[in-house]
Amino acid sequence: MKNLLSMDEVSTEEIMTILNRAAEFEAGAQPQLEKEYFVANLFFEPSTRTKTSFEVAERRVGATVIPFDTGFSSVLKGETLYDTVKTIQQSGIDAVVIRHKQDAYYEELLEGLDVAIVNAGDGAGQHPSQSLLDLYTIYKEFGRFEGVQVTIAGDISHSRVAKSDAIALEKLGADVHFVCPPEWQGEFNAQHEWDQQIETSDVIMLLRVQHERDAAYEGFTTESYHAKYGLTVEREKQMKDGAIIMHPAPINRGVEIDSSLVECERSRIFAQMKNGLYIRMAIMEQILKGRD
Ligand code: CP
Repeated sequence: MKNLLSMDEVSTEEIMTILNRAAEFEAGAQPQLEKEYFVANLFFEPSTRTKTSFEVAERRVGATVIPFDTGFSSVLKGETLYDTVKTIQQSGIDAVVIRHKQDAYYEELLEGLDVAIVNAGDGAGQHPSQSLLDLYTIYKEFGRFEGVQVTIAGDISHSRVAKSDAIALEKLGADVHFVCPPEWQGEFNAQHEWDQQIETSDVIMLLRVQHERDAAYEGFTTESYHAKYGLTVEREKQMKDGAIIMHPAPINRGVEIDSSLVECERSRIFAQMKNGLYIRMAIMEQILKGRD
């Protein structure tokens, strides 16, 4: 794999290779990089999970991580993203992990650069490493994707996770459903009431309302949004045996999910974050091996 940009471009075989390698890392396997590689993480939008997880994963596979603080870089003097990446490439960087507010920012980096690009989130576009860790979480739970009923609920239109997950899960044979207010369904066919989805889903994935992308609770208060679209204590009781709760996080407790459910028995929310480490080790190993 040369770059990881979007889940449209990752085949089911490549997905399964990454999931299986993540499982090996989780079981204690050692990385297989035979020379020194240099990596930089360029986060132009805030991140807690993805940035930390990539940094630890890069170190665990043996890469050297070069600190890059976007808030103290020459981007603030007007340097373009292309010029920034070309500049650090001159220092011998092999791969850059980038989060940027612009959808498909990576398109302007595909010509003229010799550095691997790992997309850590492009605007409201995609979030492939989150998608792969979500897939790993589901696969560990059910041992398959075929026929697994997944309901993604919340701010679908602004969510790069929803897009990446929908593409990947459908490729793998899962049945994906969406529940959200009409104005947030974006390109997807969504239902606007929970109805039977709460009882029939194997996975209920909640999404945060993305105020930073101008999502607004049109006609809702946080309380009335929670009552209509959130995972309430009453709804959790209707979920079927063995069904799990997921959320890419960060969470708005009491909005898309009742605070008491964040760490309940069904919740895999913190497990997703732990799974992210193994998935990102597998991604970085593949990407860096692809440099040889
Ligand atoms: N899920 C996710 O991308 O979290 P961060 O924004 O904290 O990286």
